[in-house]
Amino acid sequence: MTNWRHRHVIDLASFSLEDYREVLALADRFRETPSTGARRLPALQGHLITTLFFEPSTRTKSSFELAARRLSADVQSFTPTSSSLGKGESLLDTSLTYVAMGADVLVVRHKATNVAAQLAHDLEKAGENTGVLNAGDGLHSHPSQGLLDLYTLAKYFNQKKPEPEVLKGKTIAIVGDILHSRVARSNLWALTACGANVILCGPPSLLPEEFQDFVKEPPPGQVSDPVLNRGEISVTRKLSDALAPADAVMALRLQKERMRENLLSSLDRFHRDYGLTHECLKLCKRPIPVLHPGPVNRGVEISSQLLNDKSICLVEEQVRNGIPIRMALLYLIST
Ligand code: NCD
Repeated sequence: MTNWRHRHVIDLASFSLEDYREVLALADRFRETPSTGARRLPALQGHLITTLFFEPSTRTKSSFELAARRLSADVQSFTPTSSSLGKGESLLDTSLTYVAMGADVLVVRHKATNVAAQLAHDLEKAGENTGVLNAGDGLHSHPSQGLLDLYTLAKYFNQKKPEPEVLKGKTIAIVGDILHSRVARSNLWALTACGANVILCGPPSLLPEEFQDFVKEPPPGQVSDPVLNRGEISVTRKLSDALAPADAVMALRLQKERMRENLLSSLDRFHRDYGLTHECLKLCKRPIPVLHPGPVNRGVEISSQLLNDKSICLVEEQVRNGIPIRMALLYLIST
């Protein structure tokens, strides 16, 4: 029996602690249950999941598709370059075409903010009950990544019971290009909801001071915050200040394709000031894990040696956890 109330998953700002608890618990069950090949779970048999990715993706698209298959759903994948978009068909009409073919869930990624939210709204207006899962919209939100990062951290801190409460009182440092990162924004909602304190670290051009107030107000269109007590967010420019109290650190890709102009003097300089290495981790009070949502610019956000060090670097673990997290999301919005 679930208390799930989201027809779509667009943004983690609307998630309550109970929602996080439900997703993490279900993902943990899926992770521990063999569900490949002949042993795939029958939960979404007869369901059609359609992925519509208008932006490149390696991890998110394939793990949503794999997650759907592990639950026995049919999977259909839209490719913008060979579609009728080039003939002028709108995004809504393209989506309605897939709905007409029977899509139960549309998993959507787009470079513009709010596309998934608008699509969910338009589909409801058109009387369709297809669910929309946001797989990344502009700089705004990437809920499944925020959830898999949360799960990876909870699992690291408590292998047996990876619940949201495990994060309470922990300090998580997020370093690098915060401004252009929808992953950072989703992580801010998720981590603070669970009572973690977040230290954001980066140069002023990639981390405006105002980020410290990021979760103080619910986003436009949302009346209230479903979480009563959130952790704190602080901003620092110095990597040593972020690492010293941290229980975990997450690096973010320099998202050059989303930058308006060249906001950095050089990649070498960025690596010197904000790149994670074995050397700089000595500043931490204890050994801490390193996360990165990928794709990584090897040697820029994280040194090559650190990226290869599986005892500290959880990047592959994040990728693996993406599958059960997306199985949980597909299951919850489909049933
Ligand atoms: C992220 C994205 O697309 O927002 N990647 C991902 O989904 N794993 C982060 C990025 O592009 O840097």
